[in-house]
This record gives sequence, C-alpha cells and structure tokens, in this order.
Amino acid sequence: MTSSEGDGLVSPDAYDEDLDAEASVRPKRLADFIAQHRVRDQLELLLKASMGRGTPPDHILLSGPPGLGKTTLANIVAAELGTGIRTTSGPVIERSGDLAAILTGLAPGDVLFIDEIHRIAKPAEELLYSAMEDFRVDVVVGKGPGATAIPLDVEPFTLVGATTRAGLLSGPMRDRFGFVAHLDFYSHEDLDALLHRSARILGVRIDPDGAAEVARRSRGTPRIANRLLRRVRDFAEVRADGVITEAVAKAALQVYDVDALGLDRLDRAVLRALIESFKGGPVGLSTLAVAVGEQSDTVEEVCEPFLVRAGLLARTPRGRVATEAGWAHLGRTPPADGRSGVFQGDLFARDT
Ligand SMILES: Nc1ncnc2c1ncn2[C@@H]1O[C@H](COP(=O)(O)OP(=O)(O)OP(=O)(O)O)[C@@H](O)[C@H]1O
Ligand SMILES: [Mg+2]
Repeated sequence: MTSSEGDGLVSPDAYDEDLDAEASVRPKRLADFIAQHRVRDQLELLLKASMGRGTPPDHILLSGPPGLGKTTLANIVAAELGTGIRTTSGPVIERSGDLAAILTGLAPGDVLFIDEIHRIAKPAEELLYSAMEDFRVDVVVGKGPGATAIPLDVEPFTLVGATTRAGLLSGPMRDRFGFVAHLDFYSHEDLDALLHRSARILGVRIDPDGAAEVARRSRGTPRIANRLLRRVRDFAEVRADGVITEAVAKAALQVYDVDALGLDRLDRAVLRALIESFKGGPVGLSTLAVAVGEQSDTVEEVCEPFLVRAGLLARTPRGRVATEAGWAHLGRTPPADGRSGVFQGDLFARDT
C-alpha cells in the first residue's frame, strides 16, 4: 500500500476494531469474491486444471489500483489449492540472499505472495527468474574472483505477484507469469452487493437506498466501500436509530468529507490545485504533487486512477489536464479564452 490513502478516515481509536472488521469481511474463497467475473472465471479454470494434474499452477500476476482485491485473491489462490502461503513484499527484499532463504524454505506446492513486486531490488529479481523458471537458485558465496555460485533446489511453487504499477515491471519479469489478471474498478452494482454482504457479516442494518448511496461514493473500490460502511454505521448508531438509510448515509458522508462522486479531501485537493493554481493544466505530476503536499507516488497510484476513470482528469503527453467535467465538479466554468487547460483529446493517452 502506498503511504496514504488520503481520506483520513481511520482514527487511532477505531483502528483495531477496524482491522478486525476488515479481516472478517475479507472473502476467503473464490465463490465469495464479488464481481470481477472474468478474472474469477479464468482463475477458477487455472486452479482446477492444475489440481486435476496434481502440479502447482503457473505463476500469477495481479495488477490494479489499491484496494481492489489483489491481496485477497492471493490468499484465495492458496485456500483453493489447499496449500500454504508465504507472504512478503518487493521493498523488504533488499538482498538476493533474503529471497533465496524464503524460496528454499518453501514446501512443495506452496504459494509465494510478493506484494508490490515492481519494487523488488534488481539482484533479487534476477534470482527470482531462475526460481520461477527452473525451480532452482544460484546463491553466490564470497566476493570478487573467488566468488562461487552454489546451486540450490527450490520446491515447485506458485508465485503470486501483486502490483499497482504493472507498467514498471521489467519485460523479463512480466513474461515469466503464465497468467496475468488486471483488476478494474467495481461498478456501483458490484459495490452494492459487496456492501450487503459486509453488512450481513458485521450485523449492520442497511436498507437498499442506503447501500446504493454508499456504493456510489466508494470510488469503485471495495476497501473504501467497507471503510465507509463502518463509518456510516458509527453515525447511524450515534446520531440515528442504527439503520443506514439513504438520508443517514448522506449525512454521515458529509461529516466525513466524502463528496457525491466519492472524492475525498486529497482527490479534491489535486483537482483544485490543477484548476485553481495551474488553470486546468497541463502540469507535470511532480509539480502537482508538491502543490498538494503529497508524494508523487501517492498522487499517481491512489488519486489519479479514479480521477481519470471518473473523467475529471486526463493524462496527456504534456502533463495532467482537467476535463470539462473536472471544472464542473468544482462548480467552475473553464475560461473561454481558448487557452484554458480543458482537455478535449484522447482520454487514454498518457505521459510516462
Ligand atoms: N471482490 C471482492 N469481494 C469482496 N470483498 C472484496 C473484494 N475485493 C476486495 N475486497 C475487500 O476489500 C479489501 C481490500 O482488498 P485487498 O487488500 O485485497 O486489496 P489490494 O488490491 O491488495 O490493495 P493494495 O494494493 O492496497 O494492497 C479486503 O479486505 C476485502 O475485504
Ligand atoms: Mg494488498
């Protein structure tokens, strides 16, 4: 996860309770995983076929914005296979020796889950290649001309890699995954179903209009839907009769600063900076990040995907640009001098 999710909704007091709640609603099996039907279908085939053959499935790469279910799916893969899972993440594997120790400690058929795999150090990445391909690693002992490579066997395993930035993976790395799944934002209907499921598990009373209202403001993201549900429940219990209705959801989300499209403070800050300080752009990512006091990574990985998806911001070869809908969302009209940053070209062009 990136350093901040920007909505500031997790208060220190609520934290443990929230962690418990989060764990209890996390789906454990493929059948409980809501939506993403294509990915589910493909994964089911992959897992069933490999179980039929009695060999571990191909390595799996899961990509997509934060909070859409990558970690959840990695755990589901192990649960469906009935194997153990070992979890680590790219940034903590600094030396290839660390990775070699993990790999040689795997039991046959285990799942190795590497989160944020695009941030793995180069030497460790190279060691991973031979482990993925040939189930062996060469551990180098010593330095300089006297160094020797000791080959070690690795039990057959399945690597599940997760990344919020598939574009940053090297070609050789990507090529070694036999199955690549891209998770996309969830529709309002999907989130609606997810909220009803979570509410049932948590014993929260929510009516259909209440769920629809929370779903609409969850930025297409299960993690946010679940979190808003918990906050709206707090409000319903303290300021209403405990039932989440549309009116209760609206009032609660106003308190938590989540607007009608689900943008939180940071999203709005980015949009406002773009429009008010840079006349709608184009402006470079790092300049925009400095303007809102956040790291570029956070703006790029946490805010932008949804702003782009919602049609409020566009990435162009010259920088970030506000769309007409972006101006309208802040209740402003773009200047009519023809030099404004309003974007009219290809929404999906992107700078690098
Ligand atoms: N398809 C789904 N059905 C039900 N709940 C889901 C689904 N996807 C995600 N969730 C819920 O959303 C939460 C966040 O999902 P998860 O941690 O898997 O996201 P992630 O993609 O790994 O995010 P990050 O990139 O931040 O690590 C989970 O705790 C889970 O409860
Ligand atoms: Mg995760």
